[in-house]
Amino acid sequence: CRSSIYPAASVRVFPSGCAHTAYFLQYAEKFRDFEIREDDVWIVSYPKCGTTWTQEMVWLIANDLDFEKAKKIPLNERVPFFESPAIVTTPITSTDDILTFLTKMTSRRFFKTHLTKDLMPLQLWTKKPKIIYVSRNPKDAVVSYYHHHRLWNGYVGTFQDFVEAFLADVLVYSPFWDHVLDYWRLRDEPNVLFNTYEEMKKDLPRVIRKTGEFLGKELSKEAVDQLVEHLSFGSMKKNPAINLEDYARIERERYGLSEQPDLQFIRQGETGAWWKEMTQDMSDRLDAWTLQRLEGTGYDLQINE
Ligand code: A3P
Repeated sequence: CRSSIYPAASVRVFPSGCAHTAYFLQYAEKFRDFEIREDDVWIVSYPKCGTTWTQEMVWLIANDLDFEKAKKIPLNERVPFFESPAIVTTPITSTDDILTFLTKMTSRRFFKTHLTKDLMPLQLWTKKPKIIYVSRNPKDAVVSYYHHHRLWNGYVGTFQDFVEAFLADVLVYSPFWDHVLDYWRLRDEPNVLFNTYEEMKKDLPRVIRKTGEFLGKELSKEAVDQLVEHLSFGSMKKNPAINLEDYARIERERYGLSEQPDLQFIRQGETGAWWKEMTQDMSDRLDAWTLQRLEGTGYDLQINE
């Protein structure tokens, strides 16, 4: 099954139902065999659910609020993207380079990944390093993913077509609900923490404290206040170590895509803003799809949040 969102044959749906790039499919086994260390920290999400926000929060908590280092070293080098690490100064292009880069990382390693549970390195389930998952209302996630495709992938199709592909589970890293629910079912494991974007928006200090506890770090009130300030949408948006503006420019140049000054990685940062771009019909269909996928699972989602 292919999606018209991507160039022909560049995306495939795995037998398990997970959509991924044909490129990844060739190397999936190598990623599955990747050697895990017990002190690794894995930040996992479906794209656009608050990964970057969580990466910065987790890295800072685990590194005793080393704001200096966080400013100096770009986030995607402190917490690289497991299946597609990108270093601005040294492009990593082949899978062998990726695996060499990941293996050479010194401990404690932090990773971001969007892989579905079935594609994760197998040793995760025996070595049990810390895993922090972050989920988001799919209606906000799909709007954000659409803008992401415009920024990074040169997508020029309609939002309607993009939503159809999301509902048909053929966007890269879909199916959304299998992704979320597979990790949500692990939420009571001692090495797993399940957060949501909505919780982070509603009560960031609480999520910071909960994450600190999970990572075995005690945080004073002052530390929490400093983190809240550093992690605010406004400061993250203007922080060059986080906002990926250099990287987006380099990527667009590499692929010959035109400048898109109106598009930014740290874009809007709101909950429930899907209504600005969605028709009533799209919203109703997404709600029905969600209700059907969540039936009997016990997962609690405020559908119109
Ligand atoms: P929007 O496109 O809705 O603005 P990810 O990091 O998983 O790709 O998620 C990106 C989404 O998180 C984007 O959502 C981005 O703006 C939002 N985001 C990033 N940092 C944020 C912050 N500090 N506060 C709120 N939202 C943030």
